[in-house]
Amino acid sequence: MKKHVYLTGFMGAGKTTVGRALARLLGWPFVDLDSSIETQQEMTIPEIFEDRGAAVFRQLESLALRQVEDETAMVVATGGGILSVAENRKWMRDHGTTVWLDVPFETLVDRLGPASRARRPLFENHTQARALFDSRRNLYGDSDLRIEVLSSHSAAEVAALVRKTLVEEKCVI
Ligand code: S3P
Repeated sequence: MKKHVYLTGFMGAGKTTVGRALARLLGWPFVDLDSSIETQQEMTIPEIFEDRGAAVFRQLESLALRQVEDETAMVVATGGGILSVAENRKWMRDHGTTVWLDVPFETLVDRLGPASRARRPLFENHTQARALFDSRRNLYGDSDLRIEVLSSHSAAEVAALVRKTLVEEKCVI
């Protein structure tokens, strides 16, 4: 079984963009769980939340996580709520290294413009998102590695930092 790298963190942390860049640096395949769910369901994430509800979305997300095959090590961009399910936390621990992209809340808010927010049913407004962010910090903090992301960092810089940390921690060869 190969060990994947799972990028975790709140909405807008850059898991998809950094994940793609990291996969290029490592020469590994990249998979984005939200995109896998949308492709499989032929629905957007907001449509799934609206038509089927949050609980069904979480089931689909847990399934997508388990469908990432183990033959090849991959960089996996997860959705911001995946760690709220205990079995997912265990699965990710057992199948790879979890890397938290720790971005300050105000930077996340600055990054998430109207179009990005519209694609994220769980980002309703500043106050609600702040409460969700605070309630999840401990979950993200349980990740194997934490990368402190500054507002000045580009995605390429963050990817390089993640790669360096993974090598230093001997999580990749
Ligand atoms: C969610 C985050 C989203 C997506 C869904 C739920 C969450 O992914 O999975 O809207 O619970 O935080 P991103 O973190 O990529 O925005």
